[in-house]
Amino acid sequence: MECLCNEKELTDEQKYKQLKEFIKENQGKRGYLIPVLHLAQGIFGYLPREVQNFVAKEMDIPVSMVTGVVTFYSYFRTFPTGRHTITVCLGTACYVRGAKKILEELEDQLGIKIGETTEDRRFSIRVQRCLGSCGLAPVIMIDKDIHGRMTAKKLGAILEEYK
Ligand code: FES
Repeated sequence: MECLCNEKELTDEQKYKQLKEFIKENQGKRGYLIPVLHLAQGIFGYLPREVQNFVAKEMDIPVSMVTGVVTFYSYFRTFPTGRHTITVCLGTACYVRGAKKILEELEDQLGIKIGETTEDRRFSIRVQRCLGSCGLAPVIMIDKDIHGRMTAKKLGAILEEYK
C-alpha cells in the first residue's frame, strides 16, 4: 500500500484508493468484511452511505450485507464523531442513581440523541454499560475524563470545560 504518512489530510480520492487496495489485497479471504469496515472507519472516521456502497461494490456483495454488519456492531459509526465524546454510563449502579435523567438532560441541552453529533461537531453522545467507577455513580465520561456523582444541574458547567 502506498505510504501517505507525510500527508496532513488525505483527499477523498486517496482515501478510496487506500481502501480499494486493502480490499484487493484481501480478496477471497473468509470473513474479511469486518476488517475492511474497520479500516474504512479508520480512514474516513465513520461509515457514511457512500463508503458502505463503495465497499459493497468493490467486494461484489449486496449493500444490505454491509449495512447489516454496520448496524449490528455498535463499534461502527454512520455519523462523524464530535471533538469530544460523552459516554453516559447506563450500568445498573448508575441507572438506579438517575443516569437516564442525565442522559435526557444531555440530549435536551445538546439537541442530539445517542449516537449523534452536534452540528458544530463539538460533542457526540454514546452510552455504555458500566464505566468501572460504580462507587461514583452516576457517572459520565467525556473523552477519557470520568465525572462522577453527576446531576443534571452540574452538566452545563462541565460541558463548558470542553470547547
Ligand atoms: S454502573 Fe456506571 S460505572 Fe459501573
